[in-house]
Amino acid sequence: RKDILAIEDMSVEEIRHILHTAKVMKEILMRPIKKLPTLKGKSVVNLFYEASTRTRTSFEMAAKVLGADTTSIAVAQSSVSKGESLYDTAKTIQAMRADVVILRHSSSGAAKFLADILDPSVINAGDGQHAHPTQALLDIFTMQEHLGDLEGKNVVIVGDILHSRVARSNAWCLQKMGVNVTFAGPPTLVPEELKGLGVKMTYDLDSVLPGADIVMALRLQLERQKSGLFPSLREYSQLYGLTTERLKKTGKQSIVLHPGPMNRGVEIADDVADGVDALIERQVTNGVAIRMALIYLLVGGSSNVVA
Ligand code: CP
Repeated sequence: RKDILAIEDMSVEEIRHILHTAKVMKEILMRPIKKLPTLKGKSVVNLFYEASTRTRTSFEMAAKVLGADTTSIAVAQSSVSKGESLYDTAKTIQAMRADVVILRHSSSGAAKFLADILDPSVINAGDGQHAHPTQALLDIFTMQEHLGDLEGKNVVIVGDILHSRVARSNAWCLQKMGVNVTFAGPPTLVPEELKGLGVKMTYDLDSVLPGADIVMALRLQLERQKSGLFPSLREYSQLYGLTTERLKKTGKQSIVLHPGPMNRGVEIADDVADGVDALIERQVTNGVAIRMALIYLLVGGSSNVVA
């Protein structure tokens, strides 16, 4: 494989292989001295047209742990601000002999567009509402690390499904691995057309919490709401916000995930976000391990991870 664009392109065997490789990478990451020469001489370029803390930094750290050189292009200070196209920007990066280009872009399909025109590997770090494959991989890695085999487990994903590439990539990834997925949220944010993904959908979060093994809250993407938010933040938080009280409805010690960044007090209460059942910081750590695995599998060739 040359590129990582979307989970729907991946086989179950490939997902398992990535998760297995990430487990080895996490052991390396957790060492006091975490620097390997495995990808010495390779260069990784971050090209982010949208804001990011976790994804951009973790790709950078992942590449550095493996010994690759990394460069992050500050799009706002680049020639993009003079009107340079994505095509010309990407071709310029290629001409500098990058081995991997990590792209985040507001347009669905932007990563595929780059992958088709570039020789270097392209990793999709989020394209519009379409896909965020590395987030889905780190999410399933985190669930598996905590719960073991996920076959038959129940995951409820609640929030702004409409705008969420995380929800879409998780639906693909989790269902491929035999997990039951339910999308929950208000009718304005859970669009009917997503039924094609094969997930259960509901506007009544409380009715689907009993039996949930994992509850994932998504951020209300206030910056993408075109005609104001309905319901209001207060109503949303009453009906869909994860509180300790509401989570008791699962009837078990469910784990809580959130891809971040969080709107605390809206989709998730402080005591849940900081509670023992929340694996939100673990997701971030695992994000580095997953991204190490992906970069290694794409450009590591026959080089062994030096243990
Ligand atoms: N989860 C996620 O993609 O976070 P960032 O936007 O901070 O990268």
